[in-house]
This record gives sequence, C-alpha cells and structure tokens, in this order.
Amino acid sequence: MMLSRRSFLVAAAAAVGGGLGGCGSGEVRTPPGPFQLGIASGDPAPDGFVLWTRLAPRPLEAGGGLPGRPVEVRWIVAEDENATRPVREGVALALPELAHSVHVEVSGLAPDRPYWYRFRVGGEESPVGRTRTLPPADARPGRVRVAVASCNHLEMGWFTAYRHMLRENPDLVLHVGDYIYEQAGVDKRVRKHMGKECTTLQDYRTRYAQYKADPDLQAMHAAAPWLVTPDDHEVDNNYAGAVSEEPKVTSAEFLIRRAAAYQAYYEHMPLRLAALPKGPDMLLYRRVAWGRLADFFVLDTRQYRTDQPCGDGNKPPCDQTMDPNATLMGTAQRDWLFDGLARSGASWNVLAQQVMFARVDRLPGPGVAYSMDQWPGYEVERRRVLQFLHERKVANPVVLSGDIHTNWANDLIADFAGLNSRTVASEFVGTSISSGGDGVAVPKDLDKLLAENPFVKFHNAERGYLMCEVTPSLWRSDFRTVPYVVKAGAPLNTRATYVVESGMPGTRKA
Ligand SMILES: [Fe+2]
Repeated sequence: MMLSRRSFLVAAAAAVGGGLGGCGSGEVRTPPGPFQLGIASGDPAPDGFVLWTRLAPRPLEAGGGLPGRPVEVRWIVAEDENATRPVREGVALALPELAHSVHVEVSGLAPDRPYWYRFRVGGEESPVGRTRTLPPADARPGRVRVAVASCNHLEMGWFTAYRHMLRENPDLVLHVGDYIYEQAGVDKRVRKHMGKECTTLQDYRTRYAQYKADPDLQAMHAAAPWLVTPDDHEVDNNYAGAVSEEPKVTSAEFLIRRAAAYQAYYEHMPLRLAALPKGPDMLLYRRVAWGRLADFFVLDTRQYRTDQPCGDGNKPPCDQTMDPNATLMGTAQRDWLFDGLARSGASWNVLAQQVMFARVDRLPGPGVAYSMDQWPGYEVERRRVLQFLHERKVANPVVLSGDIHTNWANDLIADFAGLNSRTVASEFVGTSISSGGDGVAVPKDLDKLLAENPFVKFHNAERGYLMCEVTPSLWRSDFRTVPYVVKAGAPLNTRATYVVESGMPGTRKA
C-alpha cells in the first residue's frame, strides 16, 4: 500500500511541530521526510549488493511516525552519479514488522565497477548513494582499499573520524562491532542516549534511530558498501552466547533480549535475507572475496561463544582457559572457517572479527594477566587457529580486530609461551571511532607493555580508524587518528604505518 505524498507532508508538519532539532528564525526548513535515517549498501558480490533504508519521518517515536502497514518503496540502480540512467529498478515493501526497513538484494550487474542508487516513496526522493560490485571471483585485482571501524559511542564523542574516512573514498568499509551502545543515557556528555538500558525491541530501535541520525555516519554509509558484524554492545556488554553479563539473568530471559537486539541490528544494517534473525539466532559469519586478491572471512565471536573463563576481566590463566571445549566461534563456524581457508586461492586471507587475537600480557611488571573476553581466554581454540594457519600454509593471514578502543600492530607468533617462536600471521587492531572520548597518543606504561610483549610492534590509544591498502605484494595499514572527539572538527593524523610483505608473516614499520 502506497503512502501518499500528502500523508508524508502531514507527518513532516507534525515532526516540525514536535520540535526536532533547533531552528533559528528565518531559517528555511525542508520537511524531514521519510529518509532521515539515511541510506546504505552492503555485502557486495560480483554482480550486486544489498541496498538499505528505513522509512521513519519521526525516527525517535515508536513506529517511526508511520502507520502500522506496509509501504511501497521504489528503488533504482544507475550507472551515472546523478542516478538518471537506471540499469535496474523495482519496488520493495517496507514492512512494519521490520520497522519499515528495506533490504533490496540487487543482482545481474557488471563486476568491479561503481553504481549509484536512490529510493523514492510517496513522491519523496532519497539522496543518491554510491556503491560498487566486487571483481569477478577469478580476477586478480591490483589493489583494494578497506577502512576498518568499530565502537561508535554516541555519547562519548563526535563521529569526526567518519568525515575523514569519507574523503579517502575506500572501496569497502568493515565495521567490526559496537555500532551502538546499549547503556542508559548519561548526563554531561557530548550527546545523550534516550531512555534506559536497551532490553526491548523498541528500546533498540530507538537507539539505532539516534545513532543513524548522525550526519557523518550517514554520509559514510551513502558513499561505499559496508560489511558489518556486531560485537557485544549491540546486545549487552561482554555477553557470551546465551549468557548475560548480569549473573541473575536466565538464559531464556537473555535470549529473548538477544532476539530483540538482533532484530533491530538486522533492521538497521545493509544485510542480506540470509541474515534475517530466527528468534535469537542470526547467521552473520560469511566470506567476501575481492577477486583472488583477498578473502575476507567475517566472523561472529559472540553468538556461539562459551562463557568467559576465570570470571572474565584481565586475569592470569586458570584451568578454564585450557578447556578444550571452550570456544569463541562454535564448532560450525570454525569448521566453515577452516574449510574456507583450506580452499582459498587468495593472496591475502583476512579474519575480519571483533576481539584481539594476540596474547598480550596486560600486567606491567611481574606476573601475567590476559583478557578473558578476547582470544587468550579461549587459548585452546586460539592455538588451533594459529596451528591451522601454519600447517596448512594459508597464504598471508591477517587478523583485523576492534573492541578495545586502541590501536595495535601485532605479530601473531606460533607459541606465545616462547616469545621468540616463529611468526605465523599479522594482526591489526583498529581503535574506536569515539568510545573512550579523547584518547592519548602514548598510553601509560607503554614502554613496559612493549618490553613484556615483544610481538607488539605498535600501540596507541587515540580515536580513529584503520585504512588498509592491499596489493598482491604488500599489505599497508595506516593508523588514522584524530586528536579529540569531545569537540567537533578534529583534524586527521596518520599516527603510524605498518606493512606486511607477501610471503613474510609479521608486520614492520613502513
Ligand atoms: Fe566498544
């Protein structure tokens, strides 16, 4: 059923009357319209991609300001940047059950080229978005440029980093989790979360609506395809599988919450129908091949993991860390990953995932403490991955991580008990967009950390993102940082550049 132009104008007038944002005298205001949460594309293939939008003339209200019935959305894909020459077009139904989001899976397009797209509903047009298809599966591309982001905390800072990322025109944006934070609003921060800690579908929808309204985030979504995977804060801090952070919450209770959170994640991300949640389950691990240049294995290290060992936190290893049944990936995902790695013909094999892989001793001085929420808490599985990469001679493995709001360049060595052991792979951990507020270039005790963990080549605690440029012979990671996020308009720095040469595992300063 089509919502008429008049209905939108009525909704728009009501929204203006409701006082959305500040409006200076004499300022000309355009009606907000249905596309206030932006447009996006994602999960590219050689012949297509997903196009996303969510209709919401009043995004912070239940129902987004639309009646509870389906709305037809016209979409076009064009070969020109003004989107005037459509090569594909169609009509999608925005369902109230999915918060009037649409996920259009476009196929039949030419490989390895940009496309532009636009939505239209009831006479209202969205902005034009830019996206692209992947190179053919058997192609040998000369280069890909991938931006890696994580941890956009709305309250703790402006998303200035996305504004800089936009100017770099990456081919692909990888978001490795903490796209929202679930916690209740806190006063005296840069912005404030509406409401209490998210637990219901409506809570999460409102939270995404708040985040999605950010203009820098919207602009970056409209400029390149994204490949997304959630971490913990899209649901609940440090959850593990069906286990809540809070000890008294039962698995059944928590899975009801997880179902709500996953549904809202699906509703707000450019994901394929294959990821549509079924209750508390959502299929998110997947492989995206940039021709034969790079295979991106996108992992989900939250949904299938066993509970954090040793009571979570930074701890010395306990018996549980060597539990052979403990897992971050779950058996099915691990089998899928190993199978994919074994078959890969790509020059670079990339694990795009959430938590740091290197076994970093976080305790300065005598004794050791490892993060039980990261791979070292699941040491048997971590070693299995390293062993697999080494024994099966997987070509140029690179792990990309987020989660901890800091930058790291690490060699992944075969045996972290023997710190001189052979290097098997490389890891780049990208810092947060804004979580943690203004950061520091040189963290406290950096010298001690580097001395105790010689496989750590670089560490920094500013905000920003990773920019990776990959060619058949060289992987280059630029650690892009902004000096502050509590104020808008920070300039961009390249704090460090680390490279990996093909055939030589391990990273070095460029
Ligand atoms: Fe985070």
